[in-house]
Amino acid sequence: MALLRNAALTSLLVVLLAFYVRPRFPETASNRGTKTAVGLFFKFQDLVAYLGELIGLDPVQTANSFYNIILLLDQPAADVKEETITIEGVEVSVFRPTEESDSPRPGIIHIHGGGFCSLSPAHYANYIREMVRKTNAVVLSINYRLAPKFKFPIPFEDCLMVTRHILNNPEKYGIHQEKIGLKGDSAGGNLVAAVSLNISLDSNYPERAIKFMSLDYPSLQAVDLRLPSFRKYENGPCFLNKPRMLKYMLRYAFGDLRFYEFFNNNEQYSYLDEKLREHVASSLLTTNDEDAESDTPLSGKASVNADEVKEILSVITHPMFSPLIAPDEDLAALPPAYIMNCEFDVLRDDGFLLAERLRLVGVTVEHSYVPSEEHGFIMMVKTEESAMVELNKFTQFFQKILGLNIL
Ligand SMILES: *[C@@H]1O[C@H](CO)[C@@H](O)[C@H](O)[C@H]1NC(C)=O
Repeated sequence: MALLRNAALTSLLVVLLAFYVRPRFPETASNRGTKTAVGLFFKFQDLVAYLGELIGLDPVQTANSFYNIILLLDQPAADVKEETITIEGVEVSVFRPTEESDSPRPGIIHIHGGGFCSLSPAHYANYIREMVRKTNAVVLSINYRLAPKFKFPIPFEDCLMVTRHILNNPEKYGIHQEKIGLKGDSAGGNLVAAVSLNISLDSNYPERAIKFMSLDYPSLQAVDLRLPSFRKYENGPCFLNKPRMLKYMLRYAFGDLRFYEFFNNNEQYSYLDEKLREHVASSLLTTNDEDAESDTPLSGKASVNADEVKEILSVITHPMFSPLIAPDEDLAALPPAYIMNCEFDVLRDDGFLLAERLRLVGVTVEHSYVPSEEHGFIMMVKTEESAMVELNKFTQFFQKILGLNIL
């Protein structure tokens, strides 16, 4: 009896606590139930990672074991054939229609998100299968090595090596040489932009070796973390709030969180020259955000010495790390771009800025803005209609760019 009473009391406490700490999305947000559940999942994960750290467990590994819950939702299907191969020492998951094809198929090189520190192609399998069904393409998803163990430029170079290999050997994978593009979300969007930029500037490849790049709510820079969307969603309600984004970015850049205070104060911005600042100027933003004008100057100086400033700038002003701030003439070499952003996301303005910069240098851009959704929603193809709608929109772009007939 006492046991039952304790269990009931504990459950009541947990429910009350969950209610108290739940993220609060406005009425206009779609699928608020899902968003609340996702938010609570991340809060619980943060708590366990924090407690684990007190007894010496690595917080990134604790978080990653949490995300393996996603693997339980995996639904393999007979119409998509899957295998795991190794290219240039990097694991790659290949998904293709089971049905044989007489002619080579288009190829999509997919780079997953997860803040450079988490997830894998397996976590995206349901999403990739839908991509295969809609596009009829061979999708090769790169299992690049993760931060903080492997910091910049290793994850980028893993993706670059695999992409080069596929561009050089498309026939090995039943892919049409003239129909290869890249697609990725979040951190994967950063890597897609960096790899596309690198290959577009590489004289060993013909112009337009890559036919398109697709960036879903990409992270594109670390030079200004006080853009309006960063300020607006600094503390949520989306799970990807500023502290979380900052930790992901720092672990990728430096392998640790030494410079957390420095970036949290946005002090890196004060070291940028005028040219670089122009690339993240709010005047480029077409969001018409009411918060866009009201920046508050940040106080406090983090203790960082001159050598450390040099180290910081060498990474964050590298265009393969912050592709958004590449010079105009380099951006102009990029292939047609599909960029998607959603409302509840600190990274919203990264995508808006790149879309505008690309338009200004004459690159074809299709920008899809999804209001009332939050960062990460495209993975929920099994439950959220908005994820399917967005994938359909991408597919139309894909067919148009490759000159394919509607299937
Ligand atoms: C492309 O990436 C390689 C490998 O990191 C690097 O050596 C090269 O400088 C990059 N190209 C550009 C234009 O940054």
